[in-house]
Amino acid sequence: MQIYLDTANLDEIREAASWGILSGVTTNPTLIAREKGADFKTTIAEIANLVDGPISAETLSLDADGMIQEGIEYAAWHPNVIIKIPSTLEGLRAVSELARHNIRTNVTLCFNAAQALLAARAGAFIISPFIGRVDDSGVEGMQLIREIVSIYRQDSEISTKVLSASIRHPRHIIDSAIAGADIATCPFNVLKLAMRHPLTDRGIEQFLADWNSRN
Ligand code: G3P
Repeated sequence: MQIYLDTANLDEIREAASWGILSGVTTNPTLIAREKGADFKTTIAEIANLVDGPISAETLSLDADGMIQEGIEYAAWHPNVIIKIPSTLEGLRAVSELARHNIRTNVTLCFNAAQALLAARAGAFIISPFIGRVDDSGVEGMQLIREIVSIYRQDSEISTKVLSASIRHPRHIIDSAIAGADIATCPFNVLKLAMRHPLTDRGIEQFLADWNSRN
C-alpha cells in the first residue's frame, strides 16, 4: 500500500518527502484554505516540485461542465495533477468526460460502495472512501474499504485504485493495508504518530546506556 500525505502545507510535505515514504499528495478546499493567502495554482505547482507522484487538486463546481472546465485547467498545471471530483451524478459525467481527455480523476467524498462501483465504471483513476467520517457517523469505516476492495477485485475491467481517506490514527493505516487498499492518504501528525512507540524509545535508551557503561 502506498502512502500519500493529506495536506497543502509545504513544510509538512518537504519533511515527509525527506523520510522517503511519500508516493503522492492529496489536497482539498479545506486544506488549501488552511494555508492562508496561498495561491491554489502556485501551491499545487510547488507540491509537484517536492513530490514525484500524483497530486490531487479538487474542483469546486457543482455541475459537470464546470468540473470538466476546472479539470482541464488544473491538469494543464503539471502532468502529475489528478482532478478530485465529488461522488455525485454530475461528478460521474465529469469523470467520464475527463477520462476521454486522458485526464485522471480522484473521486472523493465516497461514503458507500455503490458510489465506488459507479465511479470506477465512469473511469475514475482513484476512489477516496472517507473512513474517518464514516466512523464519526457510528458505522465502521473500514468495512467500506473491505467492500470496495472486494467489488473491484471481482471485476477485471476495473483498475481504479482504492485510497483510504479521512485517516485519523495509525490503526486506520494498518487496517487499510490489511483490507487491501492501494493507498492511504495520511495527515502529517498521523504519520509521525505511526512511528512513535514507547518501547522503541525505551530500547534506544537502554542500548545507549549499555553502550556507555561498557568497560
Ligand atoms: O482526504 C480527505 C480528508 O482530507 C478528509 O479528512 O479528517 O477532514 O475527514 P477529514
